[in-house]
Amino acid sequence: MFIRHETLERNAFLMLVLTLLVISIGGIVEVIPLFTIETTVEHVTGVRPYTPLESRGRDIYVREGCYTCHSQMIRALRDEVERYGHYSIAAESMYDHPFQWGSKRIGPDLARVGGKYSNDWHYAHMANAQSMVPESLMPHYAFLAETPLDLDDLLPRLKAQRAVGVPYTDEELANARADLLTQADPAADNAALLKRYPKAVQVGRGGAEPTELDALVAYLQVLGTMVDFADPANENLRQ
Ligand code: HEC
Repeated sequence: MFIRHETLERNAFLMLVLTLLVISIGGIVEVIPLFTIETTVEHVTGVRPYTPLESRGRDIYVREGCYTCHSQMIRALRDEVERYGHYSIAAESMYDHPFQWGSKRIGPDLARVGGKYSNDWHYAHMANAQSMVPESLMPHYAFLAETPLDLDDLLPRLKAQRAVGVPYTDEELANARADLLTQADPAADNAALLKRYPKAVQVGRGGAEPTELDALVAYLQVLGTMVDFADPANENLRQ
C-alpha cells in the first residue's frame, strides 16, 4: 500500500487529478440538491410576497440586527413545535432575500409571532421591552416610533426584490405607495390591499405619516401566518 502511495506522490499529474476528484465530492453533494429545488420547496397555498409596508419593516429588522438575538426557524422537534407552533417549512421563506433563519436565540424564535400579540403590545414592547416583560434583555427601540419611514426608495427596493425572484406584478408595484399608506392607517379602507395581499394587518396609530415602527410591526404581525395549516389543500403538511 505504501509503495502505491509513493507512485501517487511522485506523479504530480495523477496526484492533481485524484485531489480534484476527492474535493469535487463535497461540491457535488452541495450542488445536486439544488437541481431538485422544485420538489424540495413544497407547494402550499397562502404564501405571498410581503406588502410594501411589511417589506420595509423587514429591511428595518435586518438593519437593526434583530437576527442576532432572534431566529426564524422552528425546528421539527417536539419541544419547539409545542412552544412555537408548526415547524417552519421551506415555502415560508421562499420570498425572503436574504432569509432570516438566524442561528442565535437570545430571545425567542419569531417565525410564528404574527397574531400572537396585539399591535399595541408590539408598540409598547418595541419602545421598552421591560414594560411588557420585566425580566427582558431586549434593547429599547423607541427611536423607531419617532423616525418617519423613508418612502423615496420604496420602488427600487421592491424592484430589486422582483429581480431576485419575488413575483411582484406591475399592478402591485404601481399601487405600492398607496398600499403602504393604507396599511399604515387603521382607518383607511383596506379592501384593495387585502385583495392583493391577503392577511395584511393594518397598523399605525392614525393620522401622522408612517414611522419605521409601523413598518416593523406590520412585518412582525405577518410572520408565520401566511400558510393556513387547516386548509385541506395543505393537508400533506399536518404534523
Ligand atoms: C440583545 C438581544 C435582542 C435583540 C437585539 C432583539 N431582541 Fe427581541 N427579544 C429579546 C429577548 C431576550 C426577548 C424575550 C423577552 C421579551 O419578550 O422581551 C425578546 C422578545 C421579542 C419579541 C416577543 C417574542 C415572543 O414570542 O414573546 C419580539 C416580537 C421581539 N423580541 C422582536 C425584536 C425585534 C423586531 C428586534 C429588532 C428590532 C429585536 N427583537 C431585537 C432579545 C433581543
